[in-house]
Amino acid sequence: MKKWFAVIGKPIAHSLSPYMHSAWLKEQHIDASYIPILVEEEKLQDAVNSLKLLGCSGWNVTVPYKEAIIPYLDEIDQSARGIGAVNTVVKTEDGRFVGYNTDGLGFIESLGPIRQTNHILIVGAGGAARGIVHAFKQLGFSHIAIANRTFANAKRLVEELQLGQAITLEEAEDTLAQFDIIIHTTPQGMKNSTATLPIQLNQIKEHAIVADIVYNPLVTPFLEEAKKYNVRTVNGLGMLVHQGAIAFSYWNGVKPNTEQMVERLTEQLGGNYVNR
Ligand code: ATR
Repeated sequence: MKKWFAVIGKPIAHSLSPYMHSAWLKEQHIDASYIPILVEEEKLQDAVNSLKLLGCSGWNVTVPYKEAIIPYLDEIDQSARGIGAVNTVVKTEDGRFVGYNTDGLGFIESLGPIRQTNHILIVGAGGAARGIVHAFKQLGFSHIAIANRTFANAKRLVEELQLGQAITLEEAEDTLAQFDIIIHTTPQGMKNSTATLPIQLNQIKEHAIVADIVYNPLVTPFLEEAKKYNVRTVNGLGMLVHQGAIAFSYWNGVKPNTEQMVERLTEQLGGNYVNR
C-alpha cells in the first residue's frame, strides 16, 4: 500500500506542514502523500482510531491535541514524556504507534552550530519554553536561565526539569551581557499583539544570537529590536522546518534538506507574513 502521512489539529487550514512534507517526499522520490485533517475536540479518539485503521504511517499533531493524544498511543518516547506533549506519531514495523516530540530539538537545530558551554537565556516559561529547555537538557546543556513575568512559573519549570536557574525579567535585563543565546518564547509580538517587549536588549553581548519561536510575523518586534544591535537573529520558521525534518527522518529514514526549505518558505510567505 502507498504510504500516507497527516497532520491533525484545529484549526489546520493554515498549517505549512502539508506543503513542506509533500515537497520533501517529492524531492526524495518517495511515493507517499501528506494531508491535513481537521479534527473536532470530541472526535480525537475516533480520529486516531481512523488513522490507525486506514493505514496511516505516521502523523504530526498540532494545537490543541499535543497533550490530549497521549492516552491513545501505545508508547511515549522520552522526548515527549518529559514535556508531556507529542507532535509526531510513528508507526513501528510491528504496528505500534509511538509518540515523539521533535519541537525542542528542532528549535535547537535551527540555531545552527552552538556549544554546550554557551550561556542561554530563555524568556518565558510556558509550554514552548518547556519543550526547548527539555531538549537542551537531553543534549547536555547546563548553563540555562529562565526569565519570566511570573517568577513562580520560571521557578516551577526549573524545579520540574531539574535544570537551570529561574530569574526575573529585570535580572535578565541587568545580566544580559552574560548570555550567548537569547530565546524569546512568549506570545508577545505575534500578529495583533501590541504590548511592549518583555525585556530590553541594551546590554546585549556582541555576537549573541537572538531567536524567536514565532514565524508570523517573520520578524517579530523582539527580533526587530535585536537587529538594532547587529546580532544574528533566528525566526521561528527554522523551528517549524527542523521539527518537521526530524519527524520526516523518523518516518522515512532520511533527513531532508532544511536550509532550502527555510528559504522556500521565507520566499513563499514573503514580506513580514501577517496575512492569515
Ligand atoms: P506556550 O504554551 O505557547 O509557550 P503559554 O503557555 O501561553 O504559551 O506561555 C506564555 C508564556 O509567555 C508565559 O511564560 C507567560 O508568562 P506568565 O507565566 O507570567 O503568564 C509569557 N507571557 C505571556 N504574555 C506575556 C507578556 N505580555 N509579557 C511577558 N510575558 C508574557
